[in-house]
Amino acid sequence: MFRNNMNKITFNNQTAEIPDDENPYNTFEKLGMEFSCFNGICGTCKMKVTKGMENINSKTEEENEFPLDDDERLGCQCFRLKGDIEVEYEGW
Ligand code: FES
Repeated sequence: MFRNNMNKITFNNQTAEIPDDENPYNTFEKLGMEFSCFNGICGTCKMKVTKGMENINSKTEEENEFPLDDDERLGCQCFRLKGDIEVEYEGW
């Protein structure tokens, strides 16, 4: 039977696993991320990716327009993972 790969999200030292076909949004929220606009505009979900940036979908147009450092992403613009990631989130 086919099984999806599981990807581990380490979020402020808490961990969770999600299948690679699942949007990480719900897991980020369970682990404490806050969201507001969901459109890459407000920055509420800005996080620092300390490991696995290459395992997240490419930056969206909205993220390219948002003032992000190279190691930062917007959680609401991360739709797919293809491996483990570690992030730090300070909140708003
Ligand atoms: S919720 Fe506003 S940028 Fe992600």
